[in-house]
Amino acid sequence: MSDNHHAPDDDEGHTGPIKNPRQLLLAVVFAFVIPIFVIVGIVQYVTSGDISANSELYSETAVMGRIQKVGRIELGGGSHALKSGEEVFKAQCTTCHSAGLLGAPKFGDAAAWAPRIKTGYEALLNSAIKGKNAMTPQGGGAFDMVEIGRAVVYMANAAGAKFEEPKAPAAPAAAASAVK
Ligand code: HEC
Repeated sequence: MSDNHHAPDDDEGHTGPIKNPRQLLLAVVFAFVIPIFVIVGIVQYVTSGDISANSELYSETAVMGRIQKVGRIELGGGSHALKSGEEVFKAQCTTCHSAGLLGAPKFGDAAAWAPRIKTGYEALLNSAIKGKNAMTPQGGGAFDMVEIGRAVVYMANAAGAKFEEPKAPAAPAAAASAVK
């Protein structure tokens, strides 16, 4: 008789801690979701170790370099930014001097340049800076005097002159002392 009473209790004991579908669902969720969080946590821990080890990649200058603005304006135009004679020629002078427009002496035309070269570098530079007849000042450009000088030397030398290229002002301090 006592056996008959205990039989149902024993059956319940065999089902374990999961007694209904809701508990089963919870068990499944915990069995899959918690390990995922653990794995994510481990990965984050490992990679954060990498970041501090890669100090060069994440140094302040490296990061600033990566997040700096795209455009940048440099005022004053340091001497390092001066164009070469060839660059100025290609940017400005070629318009007239390659084809001989408006009676301009052609690039590389020794016969056209010879009488002008005889007047000397200073005279040619002066014409290039202030303009001459059909040539507007600087040929219409807006260059540094050194750049215009280089362009004059570039053109004149290509037509037989042996002018020396003007040097860029060495340093602001030197320029200031020259003014005194
Ligand atoms: C708009 C056309 C034009 C452009 C651009 C131009 N030139 Fe000229 N250039 C002339 C003409 C025209 C002459 C001839 C002027 C004359 O002797 O009547 C000339 C002459 C010259 C001479 C000889 C001046 C002399 O005293 O005999 C030099 C040097 C010269 N150009 C340099 C330059 C340089 C450097 C540039 C570029 C920065 C330049 N030119 C751009 C038209 C131009």
